[in-house]
Amino acid sequence: MSRESIHIREATPKDAKALNAYIRLIFETSEHLITSPEEFRQPPWKQRMWIARKNTNTNETCIIALKDDKIVGMLDNWTDRRKRVKHVTTFATSVHPDYRGQGIARKLLNEFIDLVRLHPTLEKIELHVHADNISAIGLYEKMGFLREGIRSRAIKYQDGRVVDDILMAIWPNEHKQD
Ligand SMILES: CC(C)(COP(=O)(O)OP(=O)(O)OC[C@H]1O[C@@H](n2cnc3c(N)ncnc32)[C@H](O)[C@@H]1OP(=O)(O)O)[C@@H](O)C(=O)NCCC(=O)NCCS
Repeated sequence: MSRESIHIREATPKDAKALNAYIRLIFETSEHLITSPEEFRQPPWKQRMWIARKNTNTNETCIIALKDDKIVGMLDNWTDRRKRVKHVTTFATSVHPDYRGQGIARKLLNEFIDLVRLHPTLEKIELHVHADNISAIGLYEKMGFLREGIRSRAIKYQDGRVVDDILMAIWPNEHKQD
């Protein structure tokens, strides 16, 4: 599949139903997220409101990757409004299981880093990643994110495995990509 056939844009309320199905699939197929599939109970109407709020919040966004009009990736960020921390934003991203390893997450992240680089008040991007999420850590390291800390044994899987939560961050205006 050529990377050019992937279209990146901001989600709109019209995407709510498809986005809902996409998120459900991601929760059902990945344990590297905090939410378990049975905990995701967002109906499409609530998803619509959630997207509408992202669209009007100048510090937040929900970006989707589309292949032939099908949602194959997503990145959303959230930002605390309080003055002392409003220069920091946090994001989460995912790619449809059938479309991984094709540069889609990298494309979403590049788009997001560019948005933050040009943003009037956002300066720092943070993320949380499970210590056993090798592909995500590989992606973030390649994009220039640095490890800032560890929340020890913060994640417990249903089968009893316990893993650390790694905190990583990047300052887009100080970061030079190779
Ligand atoms: C993590 C995830 C978003 C990566 O998406 P993706 O589209 O497959 O990633 P890309 O194809 O853009 O990969 C970009 C870089 O990430 C790294 N990477 C991706 N998959 C990797 C793997 N299996 N092992 C090691 N590094 C990997 C590589 O550095 C890769 O660059 P390269 O292709 O030049 O080697 C995807 O696997 C996913 O959705 N996982 C489930 C949800 C999740 O874990 N989200 C992150 C929560 S923190």
